[in-house]
Amino acid sequence: MLTGGPSAAGGVDRGPFVAPDVAVVGAGPVGLAIAWRCAARGLRVVVHDPAPGSGASHVAAGMLAPVAEAYFGERELTALLTESAGRWPGFAAELAEATGADLGYRTEGTLVVGLTSDDLAEARRLWAYQQGLGLPVTPLRPAQLREREPGLAPRLRGGALAATDHQVDPRRLVPALRLAAERAGAVLVAEPVRRLREVRAGVTVVAAGCGAAVLTGLPVRPVKGQVLRLRAPGGGRPGFRHVIRGYADGEHVYLVPRDSGEVVVGATVEERSDLDVSAGAVLRLLRAAVDLLPELAEYDLVETVAGLRPGTPDNAPILGPLPGHPGVLVATGHHRHGIVLTPVTADLIADLVTGGGPDPLLAPFRPDRFATTGDAVPVAAGAATTPAHSTEDDSWN
Ligand code: GLY
Repeated sequence: MLTGGPSAAGGVDRGPFVAPDVAVVGAGPVGLAIAWRCAARGLRVVVHDPAPGSGASHVAAGMLAPVAEAYFGERELTALLTESAGRWPGFAAELAEATGADLGYRTEGTLVVGLTSDDLAEARRLWAYQQGLGLPVTPLRPAQLREREPGLAPRLRGGALAATDHQVDPRRLVPALRLAAERAGAVLVAEPVRRLREVRAGVTVVAAGCGAAVLTGLPVRPVKGQVLRLRAPGGGRPGFRHVIRGYADGEHVYLVPRDSGEVVVGATVEERSDLDVSAGAVLRLLRAAVDLLPELAEYDLVETVAGLRPGTPDNAPILGPLPGHPGVLVATGHHRHGIVLTPVTADLIADLVTGGGPDPLLAPFRPDRFATTGDAVPVAAGAATTPAHSTEDDSWN
């Protein structure tokens, strides 16, 4: 893919402009991980972003959940999620080794719980489908759930364990990826890219989240999520260890405990492009959270925030060459799965950059499955909306 060989690197460049081998547009986890992987292969890499890590990843809870997020009709996406989740332990270890950072990577697993019998029936339908795919979901009775998490509400009707669904803290991940990329030689440029033709590089990788719509003409649209952050009282740890994915009187909620005492409560899924936080959403999320884990009523509410997932028409990411634009690759549209898909996206895009043949895993996610109309083509209202503080990011879990 690389149109020229790696250029001479090092020293202060006082001569004519030498284009980098790779320009990555977007310094969210996906863009930074691609930059890290490419720089580690000896390429000259520049990353463009006016506000690294300020987009979807700043809001994301960091669930690495290929099992609990295996939905009906998304088999190919589930295969990619599973592959990437399998790469996470090695990726996290390598990143921790490269940076000395604590990523908040935790492996206690995820409990799926149903509050009422209707909630349990809904959850059961999905986990029966997941078991049919061979995914590891173990049903648990209420008493077994409370053995694992004594704080769960006594009236819970049942649930299941997805032991291999882990978590990482995106607000730790992004600075670590930035450090790793910079240590490997990548250079961050704090300026936005408004047109692909502004970029001069051997290969351009568009990893700009919702911002990819205006750059590429691809159908990436914002899917709003509102999220809360609570803090355990007295500076202690939360009173639960597993990620809890709850069905509570028809509401879907997830609760992600961190060693720092933080609990992330998410998230709404809204076809909107604003970043307003509504009283109704906060009420619904808190009511579901407290119904499932009553002790949360005693926690401090420390943050309410909204972010925009980069959604696509088939809910799957867009990975590979941009039709009609030689030298341009796309890595966007990760929707609900940006954090879990970061390792596989980075590896496979770096392979493409360095001339490797496309991995068969990428075939279902090629950009040419959508008709594109090229650079800077107006897209549907909202899809092009790029909030000032969340321009270049493609990651939400
Ligand atoms: N993967 C969780 C979310 O998008 O809310």
